[in-house]
Amino acid sequence: MPMFNWETKYAIGHAEVDSQHQDLIAVMNHLYELLTSAPRDVNSQAERIINELALHVSTHFAYEEDLMVRIGYPTEKIAQHAAIHNDMLAKVQSIVAAHRSGDARALEDLLPLLYGEWLIDHICEKDMDFSGYL
Ligand SMILES: [Fe+2]
Ligand SMILES: [Fe+2]
Repeated sequence: MPMFNWETKYAIGHAEVDSQHQDLIAVMNHLYELLTSAPRDVNSQAERIINELALHVSTHFAYEEDLMVRIGYPTEKIAQHAAIHNDMLAKVQSIVAAHRSGDARALEDLLPLLYGEWLIDHICEKDMDFSGYL
């Protein structure tokens, strides 16, 4: 699985959302570097990065949900999108909790989740859908 580089084709056309997506990708890439190149005793750095990640993810999802209301995105679609956010956030939080409780391999589950389900599917498809209402 390669590291993910931002490209303009991923822009949904809203400066703040695009900036938050780029920040999230940067944090994810830090985590990727840490997990793929450092030795196993990476807990102090990992803690900082996952705290940063959890904060970025929750802030970003709340921002998007508020934005969708403001731009008149249909209520039903907002509910569907928010449900996906809640599911993603719950998965991230449960992996972080597993890591904190001593599961040394928990963080490895974050990368496929973030790069696959969240990045590729969510940014490129789900977030792109509300860009038509901007
Ligand atoms: Fe997003
Ligand atoms: Fe989203």
